[in-house]
Amino acid sequence: MSIKIGIVGAGQFAQHFIPLFNAHPQVKSVLLADLDEKKRTAAAAKYGVAATCATLDDVLASDVDAVALFTQHWMHGPQAMQALRAGKHVYSAVPCAASIEETQALVRTVEQTGKIYQMGETSYYYPHVCWAREQQRKGFFGDITLMEAGYYHDWDITSIDSRGIIAARTTPENFIKIAGSPPMHYPTHTMSQAIGVTGAHMMRVSAHGWVDHHPDGIYDPKVNNYANAFSNQTALCVMSDGAAARINEFRRVGHPGGEFMSVWGTRASLEYSMAGAVVIGHSFGDTRRIDDLFKLRPETHGGTALAQPVERLPREFAKLPNNHWGSHQFLADDFVRACVTGEHPPTNVWQAARYLVPGFVAHESCKQGGVQLPVPDFGAGPK
Ligand SMILES: NC(=O)c1ccc[n+]([C@@H]2O[C@H](COP(=O)([O-])OP(=O)(O)OC[C@H]3O[C@@H](n4cnc5c(N)ncnc54)[C@H](O)[C@@H]3O)[C@@H](O)[C@H]2O)c1
Repeated sequence: MSIKIGIVGAGQFAQHFIPLFNAHPQVKSVLLADLDEKKRTAAAAKYGVAATCATLDDVLASDVDAVALFTQHWMHGPQAMQALRAGKHVYSAVPCAASIEETQALVRTVEQTGKIYQMGETSYYYPHVCWAREQQRKGFFGDITLMEAGYYHDWDITSIDSRGIIAARTTPENFIKIAGSPPMHYPTHTMSQAIGVTGAHMMRVSAHGWVDHHPDGIYDPKVNNYANAFSNQTALCVMSDGAAARINEFRRVGHPGGEFMSVWGTRASLEYSMAGAVVIGHSFGDTRRIDDLFKLRPETHGGTALAQPVERLPREFAKLPNNHWGSHQFLADDFVRACVTGEHPPTNVWQAARYLVPGFVAHESCKQGGVQLPVPDFGAGPK
């Protein structure tokens, strides 16, 4: 069996996924849409996609089985629900929604329509998360008592390095209104590291925010669309298995950026940071470096490390681009498999909600001076 897929959005991020969906052996055709004709025709020519159209509505009116959304993040929730109601399976770039209410409505829409939904959470397939998940399954850490995860992404508007690309994509005037969104409204890259290793979810959260005072004004509550003053937010979460999780979402930080994690277990621990990955036991002699997280496979599935299970990927992906630590190929393959088999993918809508909702609550806690608040949970979905 194979599917027809419509890709909506031919912007920067979609460039990584168009060639993957196009090459997947169980995708029989790709339809590419973007409101911007220039982007649409350039991407169609570059990746050899014959069928194009302008809008999501055009895609939904076509005979595609599934839709992949690479549109701006605040559009994802409404667009995904519109596509599900039109009878299409949905893949969405992160985050899945813009509020707790919208997330709940999305979960209910998936439940009502019975369609497949996947949020493309790249951190779920990062080498250190794959490695720790596998070790946890084997009982290597003992009981995990604390998970720590961070996502560091400074987007100073005056920056002239690669972060300047973000500023250049939209006019500086619009950028400054949008960039200052609360970091905890985009928490999926961190929450998913903690949840992706232990399987437990956040039940209560208290958080603290750094009130930014940089002259660029990104986090001036009178300037940005969100009345938000926090550039960095740290949450302490109580997990459903009794452990704690400390989550950092930082947007103003002297750091080149990325996703990092520590696992603190009763038998062993993992420290994964810019300095490398080290596993530690009870004695100094148990300490060893985990090079499989960094050693790349130059020959196939570019960008993947030895710790990632590339044997499950389609052979057709072998020489194709694969960004964000090799996670893109796993995500694209998960979605096509799910559509074909009818089995929900690992980063399904119930997991997506658990990656996102604690962040909205954490932001509220920051505004209330760190008070601990309950995290709504919309269930684990079907077994
Ligand atoms: N690691 C990650 O998971 C990661 C990394 C980067 C970006 N992202 C996500 O990917 C998404 C896309 O980011 P980007 O940088 O490519 O954005 P972008 O602004 O470059 O592209 C979005 C495109 O969607 C198009 N679009 C919007 N609504 C449409 C509609 N109704 N019909 C047709 N086209 C429509 C726009 O014209 C635009 O070209 C964002 O939501 C971002 O959060 C995720």
